[in-house]
Amino acid sequence: KEKIPNAYISEKKEETKIVTRNIGEIDPKNIEEYIARDGYFALAKALKMKPEEIIEEIKESGLRGRGGAGFPTGLKWEFTAKSEASQKYVVCNADEGEPGTYKDRLIMEGDPHSVVEAMIIAGYAIGATKGYIYIRGEYYGSVENIRKAISDAYEYGFLGDNILGSGFSFDLSIRLGAGAYVCGEETALLESIEGHAGRPRLKPPYPPQSGLFGKPTVINNVETLANVPQIILNGAKWFKSFGTESSPGTKVFCFAGNIAKRGIVELPMGVTVKELVYNYGGGIAGGRKLKMIQTGGLAGTFIKPEQADTPLDYDSYKNYGVSLGSGVILGIDDRSCVVDIALNVMRFFRHESCGKCTACREGTRAAVTILEKMSRFEATLKDLDLLKNIAKLAADASFCGLGQSFPIPLLSLIENFEEEFIAHIEEHRCAAGLCKKVEKK
Ligand code: NAI
Repeated sequence: KEKIPNAYISEKKEETKIVTRNIGEIDPKNIEEYIARDGYFALAKALKMKPEEIIEEIKESGLRGRGGAGFPTGLKWEFTAKSEASQKYVVCNADEGEPGTYKDRLIMEGDPHSVVEAMIIAGYAIGATKGYIYIRGEYYGSVENIRKAISDAYEYGFLGDNILGSGFSFDLSIRLGAGAYVCGEETALLESIEGHAGRPRLKPPYPPQSGLFGKPTVINNVETLANVPQIILNGAKWFKSFGTESSPGTKVFCFAGNIAKRGIVELPMGVTVKELVYNYGGGIAGGRKLKMIQTGGLAGTFIKPEQADTPLDYDSYKNYGVSLGSGVILGIDDRSCVVDIALNVMRFFRHESCGKCTACREGTRAAVTILEKMSRFEATLKDLDLLKNIAKLAADASFCGLGQSFPIPLLSLIENFEEEFIAHIEEHRCAAGLCKKVEKK
């Protein structure tokens, strides 16, 4: 891993708003207010361009998937556009289930038309006439605002037949999730739209080859899509003036846990964890001591305060072992116990594992069993080794992203705080006083 550069905390407080530019500025239920701030101008411009010119602009912008994985958006569009299938689809993944992540919710609630407009542009670019937006069922406000946005877009001629007289037609419908984390995995999401149980499919083939109902499909996250109208309006060069070389643009970060501030901030890619926590997040609530930070969501890495100088972009995991993921910055203060945190994380993944593959189904169960033993001060050093091996095996052998990623938080906790795990095993000591020895009768 590269040496983390030494970061400083700036005085800057303002954000760089691309996808959040309308949030709080317009009435999200009023299409006229969206139009007054350049809304649907990108669609009008795109409809005058050739589909391949749009794809070239998105490719050139370097926009990458904001759901967490960072796959180049323009490439996805290009793969799908190349297919000569008569039916193709655009799907928006709005099943935001990563704990601590609520950026897509705020974008859909605050600026729903930006997502609708982007989906129509994507449809025109790839040659699709139908789109679905799959929204997390508990997101009542998002569903309400997206529903109103779709209905108004039809009324204004931005959706439906012969959009703005271009000859291009596009329909958009909503589908609701029902509380399964795994349905945010794109192929499980497609299964769910098709009316099947939400279980992942084998990849490849990737959705651009065989997606919804077996047809070529582009699936993009809400935040990814919300960037598209601004890129079409202002150009790829403008977009690339923000962020880093490998990760242009901005990222919406969500504060969670013991960070003083609640809410989201949009900042250029490459901002450091330190800047986020102390400058924009207001530090740790109650002025307490920071013990660790989890970046990227529950499936992300736990890092020590010393690693907070890390700049966050799509390379930070490869370069420094720190996840960008969905953009969560979860602060944890000094009252916490690592075994308790690990147990909490693993109980979540055990509950959400769909059970399709053994490595994830049994791996999450076994990890919970060992961590419960550890929290009762009954575990041995062999159990700790077993826990590491289970995590490594699940990372290699799991069928989908869920099983492949629960080892990331688990192994980063063990790597950075191993002495606390050992204190539970050898000294029956919990620094936070949360774990208790259970006397056997
Ligand atoms: P992935 O790397 O398998 O795929 C990412 C995207 O790239 C997918 O759309 C996939 O179809 C596409 N892709 C990859 N290779 C391709 C190819 N050769 N041709 C065409 N398309 C290709 O990652 P995955 O499993 O989709 O997502 C994992 C990420 O999801 C993690 O980084 C995690 O941070 C994030 N995540 C986000 C959540 C949220 O609520 N936002 C919840 C859970 C996980």
